[in-house]
Amino acid sequence: MKPTLDFIQSIAAEAGDILQNFAGDLKIEHKSPIDLVTQADHASERHLIKAIREAFPGHAIVAEESGEWEGMPEHQWFIDPLDGTLNYAHGVPIYSVSIGYAFKGEMQLGVVYDPTRGEFFCAERGQGATLNGKPLQVSAFTELIDCMLATGFPKGANAPEDDNLVNFASFINVAQSVRRLGSAALNIVYVGSGRLDGFWEVDIYQWDIAAGGLIVQEAGGVVTDIYGGPDFLKKPPSFVCANPVIQPKMLAVLAEVRAQ
Ligand code: IPD
Ligand code: CA
Ligand code: CA
Repeated sequence: MKPTLDFIQSIAAEAGDILQNFAGDLKIEHKSPIDLVTQADHASERHLIKAIREAFPGHAIVAEESGEWEGMPEHQWFIDPLDGTLNYAHGVPIYSVSIGYAFKGEMQLGVVYDPTRGEFFCAERGQGATLNGKPLQVSAFTELIDCMLATGFPKGANAPEDDNLVNFASFINVAQSVRRLGSAALNIVYVGSGRLDGFWEVDIYQWDIAAGGLIVQEAGGVVTDIYGGPDFLKKPPSFVCANPVIQPKMLAVLAEVRAQ
């Protein structure tokens, strides 16, 4: 049995409530010197996995904090119970819950929920994308100099080609502005809603991009990995999204950096 968007939206809302109303000790732990996890991440993830396992026993789940839950591979969930943990731990109200569902390797449903603003970004394959029920559309700019872009930086040790500072410097020179908001999922759905004009990240995880990627596609945008490959969930994931004119221009900037 396949899930519905309503189901995903309702469990995202519950997870968002857990994050917003978390009253206990956050017990912040370090996954690396600059990567944190809190009890709120764990509580949100426990809730989401319980809800999915109860409603869809046997579906496979990849979740950030607890890893892979085995199941039928054709039914695959991607869960980030709290995207923007650093913001959350510092009290910066820019974070989200991200839930994606793929059937036979193709993303079908995605919800990114911003509990601070009560914003539900949703998409169902072939049915368009919405923000709190209203249709979403990517922006219409055709020149990078008119675009507000966003990115994020990897938190672990990485290969030289993953040095996003060089990419960042290149985009700063050709775009109107480059932001780093601290929640990849929210950055991505902001591209879907036209608030931002493009987003890229070189070293990212499936749970950060699965739901948002579908939302951007359904809002008329283009999503690929940094090499232009359409399977943006293929490991190791990288991610570039924008409208159909700007996205190839972003790929060209990234390719130029690699060629240097
Ligand atoms: C991180 C955030 C950040 C992005 C990182 C992600 P987390 O997720 O989305 O903006 O740059 O790549 O890992 O750890 O807060 O869930
Ligand atoms: Ca994340
Ligand atoms: Ca997370």
